[in-house]
Amino acid sequence: MGVADGMEPIETASADQLVSLQLVRLKDVVSRAYQKVPHYRRAFDDAGVHPDDLRQLSDISKFPFTTKQHLRDNYPFGMLAVPMDNIIRIHASSGTTGKPTVVAYTRGDIQIWSQLMARSIRAAGGRSTDKIQVAYGYGLFTGGLGAHYGGEHLGAAVIPVSGGMTERQVQIICDFQPGIIMVTPSYMLAIADEFDRQGIKASACSLRIGIFGAEPWTESMRSEIESRMGLQALDIYGLSEIMGPGVAQECIETKDGLTIWEDHFYPEIIHPDSGVPLADGEAGELVFTTLTKEGMPLIRYRTRDLTRLLPGTARTMRRMERVKGRSDDMLIVRGVNVFPSQIEAALSGEEKLAPHYVLELRRSGRLDELDVVVETRQLLGGEAGSERETLRLRAEHLIKASVGVSSRVRIVDPGAIERSQGKAKRVLDLRPKD
Ligand code: DLL
Repeated sequence: MGVADGMEPIETASADQLVSLQLVRLKDVVSRAYQKVPHYRRAFDDAGVHPDDLRQLSDISKFPFTTKQHLRDNYPFGMLAVPMDNIIRIHASSGTTGKPTVVAYTRGDIQIWSQLMARSIRAAGGRSTDKIQVAYGYGLFTGGLGAHYGGEHLGAAVIPVSGGMTERQVQIICDFQPGIIMVTPSYMLAIADEFDRQGIKASACSLRIGIFGAEPWTESMRSEIESRMGLQALDIYGLSEIMGPGVAQECIETKDGLTIWEDHFYPEIIHPDSGVPLADGEAGELVFTTLTKEGMPLIRYRTRDLTRLLPGTARTMRRMERVKGRSDDMLIVRGVNVFPSQIEAALSGEEKLAPHYVLELRRSGRLDELDVVVETRQLLGGEAGSERETLRLRAEHLIKASVGVSSRVRIVDPGAIERSQGKAKRVLDLRPKD
């Protein structure tokens, strides 16, 4: 049975089969890293651990973490476990500061990535008979090419539009009639707005499934996209360092968080400050060890993403809850921890407000202040002044009540906030750099 026809056997294997496969692969990757990557040899020696110390899966916690800083220190190719000759693709994530993070793939890595993206698309309800519009950016970003290779591997017809040119996205949906779109959720909304602008009924379009990821989004965003576009919206997760998109995927039959493709990525949750491993079900930072990557295997990579591990439902493999945000995106406003996604969820309590918002962080004296700029869905009418004021107070109340932080809200007209064509930039840090 090919991937196009059904699930891979490992997706429904017993827990014991999965664990024994993971253990074989974990032992292999830990010793490959030790033998081939000078960074790991040094780090393991410094920590006083040796690959032979790994006898069961939980022994992984004896090994040191890998962080983004380690990748930067070894920029660009110092973390490779194979000669450059064996590398057939290089991607990089731009990052907000400093040097990009570089990742490199062997032919085997690209094959596994394609297979896992095909598995992800299939889990989301895609089939070889589908046409898939890929509106993730193509380039150094892993979104576009990852989705592309996965769609082809599934046997679907891939339409490589990439991000941007929103009018043309709409035209292609209308003319080519894809059943599936793969795009960031924020850019999906921009495409939905473009349907409205052109007076075309988006909910009647051909799309039946959307596979959305690369940025945090909320359940209310899911409902909004589903009703406006008339499709089922599924969450996809991944990060360049570990592979790209397709590390975890929400299954259409349960829509209850993302199944981690645990036969290739071993997950742990740790306390973000102490690094202590936490039990399944507890919230903390997600850490991955790649089980099969050849080009750039990573041991206990700290993703900074905050989530929980949950038992498997649609598959044997465990699920992760929708990512709430990254520990480095967390704002601390007057001592209260705030994630942009919490503000998004709070604002969704007022239906006159659109899910287009930006958070501005300022400093006044020694205190951080939060300004929330949010669009209305419709242009405010004759009594605009007083309506704006009512909405402003309502939004401030919603945020205070559910997030627990005082903010100043600015209500702006539809379209006033710049739309992203990829990952939305939700936070503008206007505090002086000290
Ligand atoms: O964003 C890979 C990707 C492309 C995933 C397309 C899904 C779809 P990076 O640019 O390296 O790779 O960014 C990875 O994005 O650590 C998370 O913080 C965030 N992220 C990715 N998917 C989700 C998601 C790609 N479904 C970083 N929900 C990750 C929340 C996500 N955050």
